Amino acid sequence: MERIVCHCNYVNYDEIVEAIRNDGATTIEDIRSLTGVNSSCGRCGNAVEAILKRELAKIEVEIKAKTKKT
Ligand code: FES
Repeated sequence: MERIVCHCNYVNYDEIVEAIRNDGATTIEDIRSLTGVNSSCGRCGNAVEAILKRELAKIEVEIKAKTKKT
């Protein structure tokens, strides 16, 4: 099921994660310019920030794990 995060611009959870993981977004502004999220009413800002923080933390853990293995 598609999880819509930004109802104004119809941006879903997976698109936000993709912007972070595949397109290298590290700020909400990056994600906004890539997906259009949070560019209307602004109500989704906290949700986008939470996804961003969580994904960046996961990426950091993954990098640390890879670094340990090699
Ligand atoms: S819900 Fe995202 S800008 Fe309105």
